[in-house]
Amino acid sequence: MTAPQLTEADRQKFDEQVVYPWEDVSVARSSKTFLTRGEGIYVYDDAGNRLIDGPGGMWCVNVGHGRTEIAEAIAQQALTLGYVSPWSFGMDHTLRLTQRLAAYAPGDLNHVFYTTCGSTAVDSALRFMFFYNNCRGLPKKKQIIARRGGYHGSTFLGATCSGKIGDKAYMDMAEGLVHHISNPKPLDRPAGMSVDAFCDVLVEELEQKILELGPESVGAFIAEPVLGSGGVVVPPPGYHQRTREVCRTHDVLYISDEVVTAFGRLGSMFASDDIYGIVPDMITTAKGLTSGYVPMGALFISDRLFDELRDLSVDPTYFTNGFTYSGHPVAVAAAEKNLDIIENENLLEHVREVGPYFQARLGELAALEVVREVRGEGLMAAVECSLDPDNPDEARDSEFLLTVDRISQENGLILRPVYSSCVMSPALIITRKEIDQLVDILRAAIEQASRETRAN
Ligand SMILES: Cc1ncc(COP(=O)(O)O)c(C=O)c1O
Repeated sequence: MTAPQLTEADRQKFDEQVVYPWEDVSVARSSKTFLTRGEGIYVYDDAGNRLIDGPGGMWCVNVGHGRTEIAEAIAQQALTLGYVSPWSFGMDHTLRLTQRLAAYAPGDLNHVFYTTCGSTAVDSALRFMFFYNNCRGLPKKKQIIARRGGYHGSTFLGATCSGKIGDKAYMDMAEGLVHHISNPKPLDRPAGMSVDAFCDVLVEELEQKILELGPESVGAFIAEPVLGSGGVVVPPPGYHQRTREVCRTHDVLYISDEVVTAFGRLGSMFASDDIYGIVPDMITTAKGLTSGYVPMGALFISDRLFDELRDLSVDPTYFTNGFTYSGHPVAVAAAEKNLDIIENENLLEHVREVGPYFQARLGELAALEVVREVRGEGLMAAVECSLDPDNPDEARDSEFLLTVDRISQENGLILRPVYSSCVMSPALIITRKEIDQLVDILRAAIEQASRETRAN
């Protein structure tokens, strides 16, 4: 297939008319790279350059690009029945997918509400918490605790829960609803404090926040198993189990936001139970559910919550939350085929096998002068850089990361710079040889960017 020939004027029109996510309206933007096709862990730009897709799209292309099986399943479903109203009708393969997902999900999280993406899964989880507490006659129990640096999407509630303070300027939030506490970033551990003591402090902070607001006012705690776009923060041992316990003690629902971590990224279908040993009350997912081939999210809700509601409700009690595209037939077909691939190609085992190699090879970069920390788990990682690691400066270091990003891309690797870290989440099919390629390009880019920056 030949790539479309875009003129400079076409590119400018794109920049003028397409409103990007996180658009900076104050500056004339530089043109984005146009991508034309993908294959495995690679994508191709319109000049024909092959690039390693370091972020796996946006943490989502789990089974890799160019999967004929998924494309055929999508086409077949579109031809057979392109749309079904989730309000009024069922489909046999939605039942099949739901039973399969419930079997993968931890504990009693057997109820699945399909959404259009991760944000609508988070929004639905929070609205379900409101609904649940209203039904229980606890209308005040609605406050939400989330973590600084967390990301939970772009709907009003999800954005309010997100803890990236810089993203809140100029945007309205649901005032007074969400309270942010610390996240377990290793670099924030005070000098001389053990990891266990750090964990104690973090767990204590959650409990204190609940007590300060009053348990009768707190409805939910939301946390990513590994904080993703906040810089790939892996919690200290026991953190999730202990925060889960605090929530149980105070009748606060624990929502695990697995939009990034579910469906293989850490070597398990779900990280909550397999890796962190917890069964949350609700889990939000999206991305890896269809490997990004078509949009889809899913909210998992425990049987316990539904049983309780059924016992309480005498009159009709509607959970009035739904999307025209909930459980879209084409998305269901894509999800089933995607899960077949994850299973048939033993991708969970593969991630458990290559994940430590990926972390170890990236870990070698910690020896570079400008690398402050390399963090990660499975096929999720961040390399945090600072031109002066003893005095990090976010604005200057973010600028440096943009230089690393530019050089990497010139040399065949797409990165995702987030502030002063580059985060990576390549397709789960990545091989050791491809990991070597990725790390070599990144190392060379960091070295060259350091030289260029210091020369200026
Ligand atoms: C943890 C987490 N939750 C929610 C979302 C929002 O998902 P979406 O962009 O599909 O709406 C994201 C997106 O990156 C995410 O990383």
